[in-house]
Amino acid sequence: MDKLASFYHAHIAELNRRVAEISHREGLAGLVIHSGQPHRQFLDDMNYPFKVNPHFKAWLPVLDNPNCWVIVNGSDKPKLVFYRPVDFWHKVSDVPEAFWTEHFDIQLLTKADKVAEFLPKDLTGWAYIGEHLDVADVLEFSSRNPDAVMNYLHYHRADKTQYELECLRRSNQIAVRGHKAAKGAFFNGASEFEIQQQYLAEISQGENEMPYGNIIALNQHAAILHYMTLAHVKPQQRLSFLIDAGASYHGYAADITRTYSFEKNRFSELISALNQQQLSIIDAMKPGVKYTDLHIMTHERIAQLLIDFKLAHSDVATLIDSGVTSAFFPHGLGHMLGLQVHDMGGYSHDERGTHIPAPEKHPFLRCTRTLAVNQVLTIEPGIYIIDSLLNDLSNNAKQLVNWQTVDLMRPFGGIRIEDNVIVHADRNENMTRESGLD
Ligand code: GLY
Ligand code: MN
Ligand code: MN
Repeated sequence: MDKLASFYHAHIAELNRRVAEISHREGLAGLVIHSGQPHRQFLDDMNYPFKVNPHFKAWLPVLDNPNCWVIVNGSDKPKLVFYRPVDFWHKVSDVPEAFWTEHFDIQLLTKADKVAEFLPKDLTGWAYIGEHLDVADVLEFSSRNPDAVMNYLHYHRADKTQYELECLRRSNQIAVRGHKAAKGAFFNGASEFEIQQQYLAEISQGENEMPYGNIIALNQHAAILHYMTLAHVKPQQRLSFLIDAGASYHGYAADITRTYSFEKNRFSELISALNQQQLSIIDAMKPGVKYTDLHIMTHERIAQLLIDFKLAHSDVATLIDSGVTSAFFPHGLGHMLGLQVHDMGGYSHDERGTHIPAPEKHPFLRCTRTLAVNQVLTIEPGIYIIDSLLNDLSNNAKQLVNWQTVDLMRPFGGIRIEDNVIVHADRNENMTRESGLD
């Protein structure tokens, strides 16, 4: 039996345990989880790509079928209402037959609006979990995405089951294959668009299967944090390549970034230096450590790199306090990873959802939790030349920047290095490196 199938038993037992606990606590009969509905494009007869409700795919790897429902109360066998319309326009999903199907009582739904016949007769006490509150209204759910349930589920989502960890390892292994192909394409002179095509072909996943839009950035485009354009034109000069690209496995995301220099030069040395720092930040991860402290530590490391590479002068504390490190490294150190690339629960202090805000000076930090065993996080420090941020520095701070070096580095855009890491009791598991990506 595939390892995944044996892990899945414990996974679904844990999800049932969570539902039983929160339902008991909130006086609920159980949860009715909607996979979602297609979204129609304005003035058109076509839908946007379907994105399944993450609470639905937590239970089973059905990612492409709207109008499905999972009905759970934590003690009875979970029920799956599986949509199989009569439809000669579209592919109708096959009746599922997989390692997970024995764990569900599966019933087939042919008309989306007939789902009431499959739901509990009396919906009092059942909570609707999903995006379509209009549907919940029509079905007369009185409880819809209750805060107490959502906070509880999001908090516990950080504690990955063995099944989830294995899915995340596999999504990393897939993405790493794509990254190696993309690196080869870059050094062979491909355009951004061509690199994307080679990445997708290598991993055999379509753009809509990606957990997020891949960032494939040549030269100065690497300074645009969410650069999603794919230029067809090859740049005249090939300097640098930043690729932030993922993959999915059973709905679990990989989120990996690498940066390459076309030639050996000062920029490639900065990549190596940041890579060393990234690995040493990962070494500092362990249960009990606050992720915010790792983020602050990263600013210290980046300040030192700015000094070492003559991008700025002064001392570490001054470069942080004056905002210089934030201009070069404006985003957070990383985030929780799982069913969503930015997994829910990153700010939750407890299962009631007590919010720990990001520090005032670091508003883009997406995780403020204390690390614990079986959490999965990205670690993604970066250094970029972003003119708008450098220009916004105070006059005093501007004097700490070495503008000549900035001018030299600008055409290279920037650097980000991002790995996906599991926190264990006695070690970290860097899934990205262990999948063979340097
Ligand atoms: N690719 C999105 C992120 O790194 O957070
Ligand atoms: Mn990323
Ligand atoms: Mn990320």
